Amino acid sequence: MRSRTTRLLAAGLTAAAALGLALTAPAGAAVEPPPYSGEPLDGRITVVAHRGASSYVPEHTFPANDLAIEMDADMLECDVMLTEDEQLVCLHDTTIDRTARDPETGERLTGSVDSYTLAELRAMDWGLWKGEEFAGATIMPLAEQLMCYRAINPDIRFHLETKPSSPVGDQLLVDLLDRLGFIHEGAQPDPQHDQVMIQSFHADSLRRIKAIEPSLATAYLGVTFPEGTIVPDTYDAVAPNYKQILEDPAFVGRMHEQGIPVHTWTVDDRAVMDTLIGYGVDGIFSNKPDVARAAVDEAGLGIPASERGNPDAFAHGCEGIAGTVHSIDDVPITPAAIVGDAPGIVQPGRTVPVPFELDLRGGDDAGAVQAEVTRPDGSVIAAEIRGGNILVHTAQALPGTYTIEVQDEVGFAIGEGTITTR
Ligand code: G3P
Ligand code: CA
Repeated sequence: MRSRTTRLLAAGLTAAAALGLALTAPAGAAVEPPPYSGEPLDGRITVVAHRGASSYVPEHTFPANDLAIEMDADMLECDVMLTEDEQLVCLHDTTIDRTARDPETGERLTGSVDSYTLAELRAMDWGLWKGEEFAGATIMPLAEQLMCYRAINPDIRFHLETKPSSPVGDQLLVDLLDRLGFIHEGAQPDPQHDQVMIQSFHADSLRRIKAIEPSLATAYLGVTFPEGTIVPDTYDAVAPNYKQILEDPAFVGRMHEQGIPVHTWTVDDRAVMDTLIGYGVDGIFSNKPDVARAAVDEAGLGIPASERGNPDAFAHGCEGIAGTVHSIDDVPITPAAIVGDAPGIVQPGRTVPVPFELDLRGGDDAGAVQAEVTRPDGSVIAAEIRGGNILVHTAQALPGTYTIEVQDEVGFAIGEGTITTR
């Protein structure tokens, strides 16, 4: 976590950019934005797909997240809810009334999310409410969202909202992230780059998360703070409603003076996005990530495509992962370090798609393909091929070169490659 001194030093560097130039609306514009302009803290703006690309397809479903990847979102959002059997699922409302339907009759179903087990929620239809064409859409457990989209794109990032505040839910969330290798103990939170950000309206939830795992980056969703407020150390970023920023655009500069990035929600209108971009926001949540992508890219402030890493083509619906998690016990323990990122690095918490630098078709689809890894210290370990990724079980990313031999089902070598730590 950054110290207050660091934040104030960062302030000195950014204040000049955050203050000054007047922004005037074009003649005849309906709303004249207040005179303020700023720049994002690190010169780039994160596009967050709000509940997936939820303007177009049912929120918090695989199709919504698939479309968000296609639309080149930088982050996927999940509102994290707890089921009756204490499983974490991505759902916005505390009740199922708005978005759940009986798959047989199409009738509206009712009740609080936490009065149903995951199995019961799985049996419901989560697409019909938005249109007949979406019939059959299923609920998305958080573990499946994380596993699925990290397999599709090792660089994809997640904005996870704890709601409502729940000590049990917060602990389970950290446990899940740990199990999946998203936690890097001892690391400084970096809200503009970390793969996971925890957001909440509930200050107590963010305090709990920080107490359990200080390395996790957090964003507070509450109201904007008045001038003179020192942002608590439990918040690495802030994320108010965009209307609050339109009313008080200098808030962005006040946060930047403390080294705090500002993400804002939920913005679907291009003109409003452009205004907020002019104010210097660091992240935009949108139900229309394609519109936000265009807005930030055309402003020259988008994260480069090479860093986003979204593939042009991928199998939709997350075959092999969707529907597999019924409890945290079903979530594989991801080692602290995974061979990652062709053409060749080893980074904690990263995966490499199969094939990598090898002309192979492998992974689960090919059946019994296996892999063996010789680590830089000479030890040989078996690698798992799972969900289209090679997972190397090693406690840490040892420096040096890893040799990976991909084998057929009887252990015959059918390809070899090397990757080297950074
Ligand atoms: O997480 C940002 C934004 O989604 C907060 O509001 O109600 O849409 O979760 P809500
Ligand atoms: Ca949310």
